[in-house]
Amino acid sequence: MRAEVLALLACRPGGTYVDGTVGGGGHAAAIARELVLLSKKGHQVRLIGLDIDPDAISAATVRLSEFGCRVVPMTAPARRDEDITMPALDCFKDMVILVKTSYVNVADVVQRFAPGPVGAVLMDLGMSSDQLEGNRGFAFERDGELDMRFDPDGTSLPAWKLLRHASLEDIKDWLRNYSQEPFAGRIARVIFERKGMINTTRDLVETVQRVVPRRRLRKTLARVFQALRIAVNQEIENLRAGLVAATGVLSPRGRLAVICYQSGEDRCVKDVARTFRDKLQVLTRKPITPSASEVQLNPRARSARLRVMEVRS
Ligand SMILES: C[S@@+](CC[C@H](N)C(=O)[O-])C[C@H]1O[C@@H](n2cnc3c(N)ncnc32)[C@H](O)[C@@H]1O
Repeated sequence: MRAEVLALLACRPGGTYVDGTVGGGGHAAAIARELVLLSKKGHQVRLIGLDIDPDAISAATVRLSEFGCRVVPMTAPARRDEDITMPALDCFKDMVILVKTSYVNVADVVQRFAPGPVGAVLMDLGMSSDQLEGNRGFAFERDGELDMRFDPDGTSLPAWKLLRHASLEDIKDWLRNYSQEPFAGRIARVIFERKGMINTTRDLVETVQRVVPRRRLRKTLARVFQALRIAVNQEIENLRAGLVAATGVLSPRGRLAVICYQSGEDRCVKDVARTFRDKLQVLTRKPITPSASEVQLNPRARSARLRVMEVRS
């Protein structure tokens, strides 16, 4: 939905644009291309890309290097005036700033590295293809340590360890709330009984296999792995905090675009939009979904829903 995202972000002259989940830099590259056009016309613009996964920041650095890209540590002291000024006219050097941090910290990042009006914030939720295809425990098809942390240096526990600490009720709630698993009770029970023995993706697959018929196995495993990933990374709690933070940094007529992949995320976005209805106007009465041809090219996009809100002026 890159074209739809770009059209709805409506990049305008002046200001900072934020990709809160830069991942491999696909959406960010498309935004940066728009910003280059504005910059060529003499407007000062900057793109900030955030991600909590250090591998994503490395991948985005390569992908975005053509635009002039600098990785800035969040721990760096606030920059001196000459450093935080926008790129000089007709100069694209360091138009993109990448920071390894959560979108929850967007206000702090903007204040430190690009103070001034924020034109739009994009949040493309869930996990990236790189994460799914790597050996980090996200995919049930790949054997490896059941880790699932987006940020291996952060405070989250790896999935196998989180399971050790979980009660039967916790596991049941994750399955129900984060993936609407219809057999949450039965699956939670077997995971709970065997949790001391679950260290790898294969251990979890074999555990679920005990109570789920073969014909339902793949879809069930997808739901179990999704629920556990969301729990490990506290994705819904972070999403709520991130949406509130993004709403706070946007300038009047600034836009907040969110791509959700499951109903818990979508509910959270609608809920925050309702809470801030005096400040945010919803531009997408119904969520925008990918076209049939996009789903054919990229089947993982089939559950994507894009919602966009604008700060009232
Ligand atoms: C679907 S991918 C984004 C893909 C990206 N739009 C692209 O075009 O390549 C989601 C990304 O969000 C990141 N992420 C998850 N939680 C985050 C958080 N709280 N703050 C910042 N990034 C986060 C993940 O590490 C992942 O790289």
